[in-house]
Amino acid sequence: MATTATPLQARNIKKRFGTHEVLKGLSLEAHQGDVITLIGASGSGKSTFLRCMNLLEQPDEGELIVHDEPIHFRDTKHGREPMDWKQVERIRAKLSMVFQNFNLWAHMTLLENVIEAPVHVLGKPKKQAIDEARSLLDRVGLLDRADYYPTQMSGGQQQRGAIARALAMDPEVMLFDEPTSALDPELVGDVLKVMRGLADEGRTMILVTHEIAFARDVSSQVIYLHQGVIEESGAPAQVLDDPRSERLRQFLAPKH
Ligand SMILES: Nc1ncnc2c1ncn2[C@@H]1O[C@H](COP(=O)(O)OP(=O)(O)OP(=O)(O)O)[C@@H](O)[C@H]1O
Ligand SMILES: [Mg+2]
Repeated sequence: MATTATPLQARNIKKRFGTHEVLKGLSLEAHQGDVITLIGASGSGKSTFLRCMNLLEQPDEGELIVHDEPIHFRDTKHGREPMDWKQVERIRAKLSMVFQNFNLWAHMTLLENVIEAPVHVLGKPKKQAIDEARSLLDRVGLLDRADYYPTQMSGGQQQRGAIARALAMDPEVMLFDEPTSALDPELVGDVLKVMRGLADEGRTMILVTHEIAFARDVSSQVIYLHQGVIEESGAPAQVLDDPRSERLRQFLAPKH
């Protein structure tokens, strides 16, 4: 995994839904080991920006470069789309996303969930995939749940399972969209602990979170979005503790 390539660059990304321009030209650059946190009000475009990064949404304009490989688009009468879906598949395998709502497959055990993509997408031998999956489950504290189905696990366990599943692809970048906001408060800590471990070991991550204390602690950069524009960005201490933007100041102010 050690390379000098830049894991992810997004340049001037724009996205419209109908006439509503949701992203108005967003850029970011994630270098190896960076943890970039996106914050902003509901509807500011955080999820759409993340979804554009792994092409769950097609950006209308802008460039995406993953591990120094530019993604090629072409214009069609339905709008812009990737030129080569094989390339998209290959790129997506490098960018694992963890969503707000635990998205393990319900009809598979936890272990089966974790080995699914390594075996079927990467073509790993099953025995090797199982050994690696068990060590990942151990890391997220779920080895004893390997044979459970998602409905037999708590939300926090499912979310840690989803992280193990994402890790099983050894992704270039991990994308997290509010991974703890659907959890009961007492389950949040265990998930954040796993994420902090990933940050500490130098995983490149881009995350959307409302956990400001966590963001301050782990981020190399914090980006504040307002209506599809980067209103402020920089080191967490500057952005979170000494914001220049009045709007960001209000966003961060304790709510009563
Ligand atoms: N598929 C879609 N079709 C039409 N509009 C959409 C679609 N997805 C998102 N939007 C709109 O784009 C804007 C940005 O949405 P997005 O989900 O990116 O916001 P967000 O910052 O993630 O908000 P939240 O904090 O509530 O998750 C919103 O106004 C939303 O209504
Ligand atoms: Mg969102």
